[in-house]
Amino acid sequence: MKMVAIKRQGLEKDLGSLLESAGFALTEKDRKYIPKKWDIFSDLVLLPADAFSGGIWISLEPIALWKCVAKSFHVDRVARQGRIRSDAFRSPRVEMLLGSNTWAKKKENGLIYELNITKSMFSSGNITEKTRMLNLDCEGDVIVDLFAGIGYFTIPLLKAGAAKVYACEWNPYAVEALRRNLKLNRMEDRCEVLFGDNRQVAPVGVADRVVLGLIPSSEMSWPAAIKCLKTSHGGVLHVHMNVETLKTDQQQHVFSTYHTEQSSDYFYIASSVDWKNSPLFRDFAFTIMRRLHDMCNEMFLERWLITVVHFERVKSYGPKVWHCVYDVELRPLSYRNSSSNRLIN
Ligand SMILES: C[S@@+](CC[C@H](N)C(=O)[O-])C[C@H]1O[C@@H](n2cnc3c(N)ncnc32)[C@H](O)[C@@H]1O
Repeated sequence: MKMVAIKRQGLEKDLGSLLESAGFALTEKDRKYIPKKWDIFSDLVLLPADAFSGGIWISLEPIALWKCVAKSFHVDRVARQGRIRSDAFRSPRVEMLLGSNTWAKKKENGLIYELNITKSMFSSGNITEKTRMLNLDCEGDVIVDLFAGIGYFTIPLLKAGAAKVYACEWNPYAVEALRRNLKLNRMEDRCEVLFGDNRQVAPVGVADRVVLGLIPSSEMSWPAAIKCLKTSHGGVLHVHMNVETLKTDQQQHVFSTYHTEQSSDYFYIASSVDWKNSPLFRDFAFTIMRRLHDMCNEMFLERWLITVVHFERVKSYGPKVWHCVYDVELRPLSYRNSSSNRLIN
């Protein structure tokens, strides 16, 4: 049996005993409100929004219930998730049910993250992308993380050997956590935190790579991302995007034009890219490349070459919607034309 199932069985047993001592029996309806998933921080369990939100649970003495849950998970504090606000900070709505300290610690891939769970969210869902960043060949690179949050990508990239990361973030609570995390992981000497809107605070002409970790789209910051790149030889943008695998009117809405085409003189797709059996992911690559190419044309006198070098399907974000990452290389023509940097495919 899986660990989660074992844990849930234990939780159900503990809750059954609690009910019994209060003179109740566990019914099927009550069972529906016992969570099937949760997030564990060092000494805190974060329950999903619907956990214990109905059935017998709402008529029990709350402290007794939360103490029972805490004991079952071997933690001291219990909190419950609400829906993430659709504000620009993507702030969570978390309710503390047992305990009042809202700072929590999480270890992931050997790295430590601390955050105020009522102010910033911890996204366990994009673990594959965080792991990819941790293993990225970026030794000595200068990287700009335009949507740094509490450091989900900044910290792994520093661990991977980046020479320097500029971390842009406009949410003061996330910035506070980010600074703590840099310190906890002993990385503060290689990271410059830039507090504010990345379109205003991002550095210009310094980067080998730029991370654009915002979904559903980071397009409003693409011009800033291009400006971050070293003008003499460009670099790679890691573009996060929600992509629908059905071409619908909404999809058309994300980009006003939707391109299905072949490689051209200025756009390429590396032959190694795996599109996970969906031609729509590939079509979307052309939409991204064309948009970036147009932006480069507006910014520079020289033509730039755009190549999608890697594609990641991170996680399902809803019916037929995928959180994807396109690694897009942008190079000035003069850099690509020098023999040592010529395209292989
Ligand atoms: C969804 S979080 C991403 C965190 C992390 N990269 C991840 O994938 O889990 C996006 C972060 O970008 C920040 N953000 C959004 N727009 C921004 C902007 N224009 N300038 C700076 N930060 C911004 C938000 O405050 C939030 O912390």
